Amino acid sequence: MWQSYISGVGAYVPERSLTNFDLEESLDTSDEWIQQRTGIVKRHWVEGGVATSDLALKASEEALSSAGLKKEDIDCIIFATLSPDHDFPGSGCFLQAKLGLEGIPAFDIRQQCTGYLYGLSMADSFIKSGVYKNVLLVGAEVHSKGLDRTPEGRNVAVLFGDGAGATILSRKEAGADTESHIIAYDLHADGQHAKELWVAAPGTGNGPDHRLSPAMLEEKLHYPFMNGRQVFMHAVKRMAESLTNTLKKNNVTVDDVDLFLFHQANLRINDKVGEMMGIPAEKVFNTIQDYGNTTAATIPLGMRDAVKAGKLEKGMLVGMAAFGSGFTWGSGLMRY
Ligand code: ACO
Repeated sequence: MWQSYISGVGAYVPERSLTNFDLEESLDTSDEWIQQRTGIVKRHWVEGGVATSDLALKASEEALSSAGLKKEDIDCIIFATLSPDHDFPGSGCFLQAKLGLEGIPAFDIRQQCTGYLYGLSMADSFIKSGVYKNVLLVGAEVHSKGLDRTPEGRNVAVLFGDGAGATILSRKEAGADTESHIIAYDLHADGQHAKELWVAAPGTGNGPDHRLSPAMLEEKLHYPFMNGRQVFMHAVKRMAESLTNTLKKNNVTVDDVDLFLFHQANLRINDKVGEMMGIPAEKVFNTIQDYGNTTAATIPLGMRDAVKAGKLEKGMLVGMAAFGSGFTWGSGLMRY
């Protein structure tokens, strides 16, 4: 019987870093407002022609080297992003070409902030069923080019950062519970709330003629819309609910878990989930202070930083949870 485990992890953020102070004038905001409401101190935004797959490439190279694998060992690429290089083809194809891995399957998934957990479930299933041996699972975003960076867009623009996280899921014979392996995941969606956090255009749902028109641009339909309060309320409830169920189903208590890697939308969301579940603050590894919300990249980016910080070591039990546009949400449990 096969199991999958994380054999390598890598991450990359662009060099250009912007503090809240750097945004104060252009967005009519303040460091105090952003920090109090979200916990964010700074974020990274790309410069020039850098695309999402460029960030993913750097994160993937680090993941390969951390796994001690050659790029030719990769059998499949799963790319989670809501900010692709282009509308089509998917960024997985661009990344595949940049890695020089002609021929292997590469595809994108569009699960927004829950993208990494959805991707993890797919990579794990491919490996468990014997289809692939090593799957490269990347979460990468360039948000900065898709934000309304005027005072009108400040409620959303201050939240998001650019970055990438990559993991390699590899195959092993099922062994003892204490060995590294993906244990469980729990995934959900509720499309009734699709328009509480979304980008309307371009899209075929916009009327009879065009996916994008000057009128849509004028109305700023190509920028994200977010009902912040609804998102906050649902995120807290759903992340706690899903993670509690995952722990319960696997006979694991909060005390048994060594580290929690949560999606990084808002520090207050994570604090609230921790409080509801009785998780000691030091067990939650947050990175939103430094990166803002990098949606599909937050969990693997946090994983890489936790390893670097000495907070995550092989054999540790890790709980994960995420919530995002869709609404989509879920949780996961693994022995790292
Ligand atoms: N700087 C200064 N003032 C601002 C800013 C800003 N960047 N943005 C909004 N404001 C003002 C508003 O204009 C409003 O002013 P008013 O009272 O004079 O009208 C006031 O702040 C309150 O605005 P709200 O939108 O009601 O602010 P709220 O307290 O709800 O906080 C926030 C907004 C932080 C986004 C909150 O709703 C939240 O945390 N939501 C969760 C959503 C989230 O974190 N999303 C991240 C992406 S989604 C995901 O990854 C799941």
